[in-house]
Amino acid sequence: MNALSLVRKCIEPELERFSQVFDESLSTSSSYLSQILSSVKHKGKLMRPILLLLVAKDSGEPTDASFLSAVTLEMIHSASLIHDDVVDDSDERRGKASVNATYGNQVAVLAGDYLLSNALIKACETCSIPIVTRIADLGRQLAKGEIVQMKNASVNALSEEGYFNAIQLKTAALFSTCAELGALSVGASQERMAWAKSLGEHIGICFQIRDDIFDYYNDNVGKPTGNDLREGKITLPLVNALNRFPDAYMLSLAEKARSLTITEKEIAELVAFAKDKGGIDYARKVMYDRAETARQMLAEVRHEPIREALNQYIDFVVERTS
Ligand code: FPP
Ligand code: MG
Repeated sequence: MNALSLVRKCIEPELERFSQVFDESLSTSSSYLSQILSSVKHKGKLMRPILLLLVAKDSGEPTDASFLSAVTLEMIHSASLIHDDVVDDSDERRGKASVNATYGNQVAVLAGDYLLSNALIKACETCSIPIVTRIADLGRQLAKGEIVQMKNASVNALSEEGYFNAIQLKTAALFSTCAELGALSVGASQERMAWAKSLGEHIGICFQIRDDIFDYYNDNVGKPTGNDLREGKITLPLVNALNRFPDAYMLSLAEKARSLTITEKEIAELVAFAKDKGGIDYARKVMYDRAETARQMLAEVRHEPIREALNQYIDFVVERTS
């Protein structure tokens, strides 16, 4: 059993209820739309609902608003990935053909819009303006994060500050909103909500750094994926290596990555450079430091099994191989 299955065990009935609400709210009379959304129904790892429900369960008894919030946030996550694959012109998602690869960009944009609107209906069903407000703000941050990332790719490629700004918005904001709504949906105090938000933020930053390291070093597939560089994204391992060793040739390759003119051989050279110059080790250290901060925050968790589950959740985020 991997770390995440043990975490799931701690909130098994809650996850079952989550799945029920999620599946019900995706049912549609259009068989074509249903077919398009089938990839969303084969859910991913449910990292975000799990975090929300663990925080809710530790802060009180999960309410209808907790489940509706979890469904809303998982749907927004799915919508953002469908849109992201259009933006990145990516033809694969979770090991399968992406929606844009199968149905084209127009259908993919509209399917993402449909999911986003469905998510907003679930948010409204909470009848909570504070919840709806946070969800609307999250949508804004996700879109801004993608735009900041694009701007980084054109003018700010080697700035560590620019990198953290983008991942805060495009990834950490979703994790922090999940944890915050876990607390808010059970009527927790402002102090508890702030704690949850900050915990989610640290976890989200770790999640994205782990993802970015996969591009340079991936135990699971036995080789780096290089996809980010192919898409013009220069992430922490290479940002760090180039800042410490501004080698003219490597800088010229980074420029080629940014302008989407880089070859496979040159991607391999940049990956090897990031590795040899300690960029991956640096990114790992930043990730482990953040994970340690998150673990220390678990002293505030009230129930021992939930503290253990959150500890294992953090283990999974930093140790996962896919
Ligand atoms: C994956 O990043 C993408 C995101 C974390 C966020 C994408 C957000 C949007 C497209 C904005 C959409 C906004 C709303 C409200 C629906 P990645 O490309 O680095 O990772 P990947 O390898 O998984 O594609
Ligand atoms: Mg992408």
